[in-house]
Amino acid sequence: MSVIRAVAVGYGHYLPKRVVENAEFEESLDTSDEWIRARTGIERRHFAADGELTSDLAFEASKAALENAGLEASDLDAIVLATATPDQTFPSTATKLQHALKMKGGFAFDIQAVCAGFIFALSTANSMILSGQAKRVLVVGAETFSRILDMKDRGTCVLFGDGAGALILEAQEGTGESADRGILSTDLNSDGAYNDLLYVDGGVSSTQSTGVLRMQGQEVFKHAVSKLAATGETAMQAAGVTAEDIDWIVPHQANLRIIKRTAQKMGVSMDKVVQTVQDHGNTSAASIPLALSVAAANGQIKRGDLLLMEAIGGGLAWGAATLRW
Ligand code: ACO
Repeated sequence: MSVIRAVAVGYGHYLPKRVVENAEFEESLDTSDEWIRARTGIERRHFAADGELTSDLAFEASKAALENAGLEASDLDAIVLATATPDQTFPSTATKLQHALKMKGGFAFDIQAVCAGFIFALSTANSMILSGQAKRVLVVGAETFSRILDMKDRGTCVLFGDGAGALILEAQEGTGESADRGILSTDLNSDGAYNDLLYVDGGVSSTQSTGVLRMQGQEVFKHAVSKLAATGETAMQAAGVTAEDIDWIVPHQANLRIIKRTAQKMGVSMDKVVQTVQDHGNTSAASIPLALSVAAANGQIKRGDLLLMEAIGGGLAWGAATLRW
């Protein structure tokens, strides 16, 4: 049976120039490189320069993805951009990116599911492609989390970084089997009962200010491992594949201990897990497309490989997707 699949035809990423090593936090906080490495796996992260915006990061990653795909912005029907750190309250960062790319037609909009944003954006783009609404969609995750950190809170400020990743999806024919290239399944979840575990203490309607990130780290940790493993299983089942079929898990890069425990729970060995958290920290919605792009560029991920992506973040919101590269 012939079906439409959303196939990845281009990828790219961008990291701001400034690298912040763990040791830099030792100057202003009661913390250490050893503590941060041991508890999170993070060694360094990138922070955007003054005046460098989320849309600037998204632009560089998108340009690289278009070049990688051999496409022009005019070949795109839509942009779906996941971010929790938009340039402005409105318009959307996606429309700023659309303008920067000189894309005249089509449509662009933002998705807000914090660290799970890329999975939600990917699922949305997939649905638009399967329904025939769009043929080529640029899916972007871009964040400047450094702008919403309380630099006096050692429990949160050492965890996050800035960056952007982009993936271009294109409608192609498949057979309906799990051997098809493209997105095979997605699974989305949220539960607003957990709003208080991870949030920003400001906002347009509440305080008319931006606010900073607040988190109950241990609670988030516990939810992360069980919910990520469950959504991963659901996505694999929906695709008709098992853990043995997975070539690479491309997890949200929040904490190496979460990544390890989730992989273990799903029965996938760590040599099949893409790891960039050591160099990027947690870049929220940008973390999966960044990891994808880095692993594809360095030859880890090869055409035909079966990928499982999974992420969780504020909301709580969480989800997973399987994709044959
Ligand atoms: N340096 C040194 N000590 C620290 C630091 C730090 N950077 N941060 C916290 N501590 C201290 C605490 O103050 C506490 O001290 P106390 O015992 O004197 O009170 C001690 O370390 C233990 O604190 P815990 O919060 O229990 O430490 P834990 O081992 O849970 O690690 C961490 C904290 C890393 C935040 C962990 O809970 C975690 O990774 N949680 C997941 C949260 C996450 O990744 N969130 C990202 C967004 S959601 C997502 O993307 C999945």
